[in-house]
Amino acid sequence: MGLDLVVFGLGYVGLPLARRACAAGLSVTGVDVSRDVVAGLRAGRSHIGDIPDRDIAAMLDAGFTATVNPAPVGAADTVVICVPTGLVDGEPDLGAVLSAASAVARHLRPGTLVVLESTSYPGTTEEVLAPVLESGGLVAGADFHLAFSPERIDPGNAEFSFENTPKVVGGLTPVCAKRCAAFYEDLVDTVVVAAGLREAETAKLLENSYRLVNIALVDELAVFCAGMDVDVWDVLRCAATKPFGFQPFTPGPGVGGHCIPVDPQYLASRARSAGLPATLISTALAVTAGMPGYVARRARDLLARVGPVPGARVVLVGVTYKADVADMRQSPAVGVVRHLRAMGVQVSYHDPYVDEFTVDGVRVPSWSGDADLAVVLQDHRRVDLGAVVRAARVVLDTRGVAVGDHVVRL
Ligand SMILES: NC(=O)c1ccc[n+]([C@@H]2O[C@H](COP(=O)([O-])OP(=O)(O)OC[C@H]3O[C@@H](n4cnc5c(N)ncnc54)[C@H](O)[C@@H]3O)[C@@H](O)[C@H]2O)c1
Repeated sequence: MGLDLVVFGLGYVGLPLARRACAAGLSVTGVDVSRDVVAGLRAGRSHIGDIPDRDIAAMLDAGFTATVNPAPVGAADTVVICVPTGLVDGEPDLGAVLSAASAVARHLRPGTLVVLESTSYPGTTEEVLAPVLESGGLVAGADFHLAFSPERIDPGNAEFSFENTPKVVGGLTPVCAKRCAAFYEDLVDTVVVAAGLREAETAKLLENSYRLVNIALVDELAVFCAGMDVDVWDVLRCAATKPFGFQPFTPGPGVGGHCIPVDPQYLASRARSAGLPATLISTALAVTAGMPGYVARRARDLLARVGPVPGARVVLVGVTYKADVADMRQSPAVGVVRHLRAMGVQVSYHDPYVDEFTVDGVRVPSWSGDADLAVVLQDHRRVDLGAVVRAARVVLDTRGVAVGDHVVRL
């Protein structure tokens, strides 16, 4: 029996795609190398915060299957690759893309559309993916269609979903682009066709680099303002009233997650190897990487006002990488814990999304209810900030959300 879609990689990106495709009436199979992920989905359990179990049940009802076996590729009209693209020693790691591609190549049949959604540097789809896919003897652009379409999943975003976020597509040939656009047109409200593969690949890197650079700018501004006795939050409030030419960003304890600290390094690495500049990205990465240490030093200065720093009790409020998600990947909270521990501080945490928090093999205990200092790292809607403010002697608020006489903002 033919399949409309096979999705490789059933994580934060692949699972929402599979869910949307099932809802649109497509026949979908998901392939993942993780037996746990596959077994969980088959049993109706979601491992992705934004996707409730009932949605997995609806997908299974619609005929969705998850498997570790890539053979269903041989029956698919479209194959979309959504596997992780991380870093090893600061350099792009395309290992998962290459291994997914060789699994696809073994079963690929003529006429299939293969799309890469994983973030990577310009040239990846044509120079890295295509040769592996062609290893079975079929030629990209002639025997099968090849395209790149950057994912834009924003975990925890209640306003913009897969469906109402415009989808950029780029094809190896104009026909590949057309075929890819037609596939996504059935799933999303708006499809935007890029000039080619490289433009689609680079658009994604620009989007995330833009966020990184602007976050670094306001982080550095926050440090500057604290040193100049200027209220950075009021500066931001005033600047944000400009109706043109300004987009507000807010400072914080540093960036985390799978994209903002990672994707710009794909651009920087490619620039380095081509002898081209990526100065702003390198500087922005350095500025954001310095924020956990800065937050810890601000915490130390506040503690020193009320007593000795070694042995002082500090609770970190919200330790995931951003508000309203359960995702701990590259959370700046880890760096804050390390710096505070090095100062002899007793660190606990309070986060309804995190059952267990371990840093360098040592468990961070959950909050017992009082503390010398509370540091607000993420402002989860599910946290009663008022209760935190009442319970702590002093509050360091890195998000500009807490109010009270003893609240000090970043
Ligand atoms: N999650 C986001 O918000 C986000 C944002 C920006 C960019 N991205 C990009 O999206 C891509 C996917 O990221 P994600 O967040 O979905 O990752 P994830 O870790 O949530 O999921 C990836 C899944 O792929 C599976 N996998 C790994 N190798 C595989 C293989 N060879 N074949 C089949 N399955 C394989 C893993 O077991 C895992 O379940 C990455 O390129 C990432 O940089 C993600």
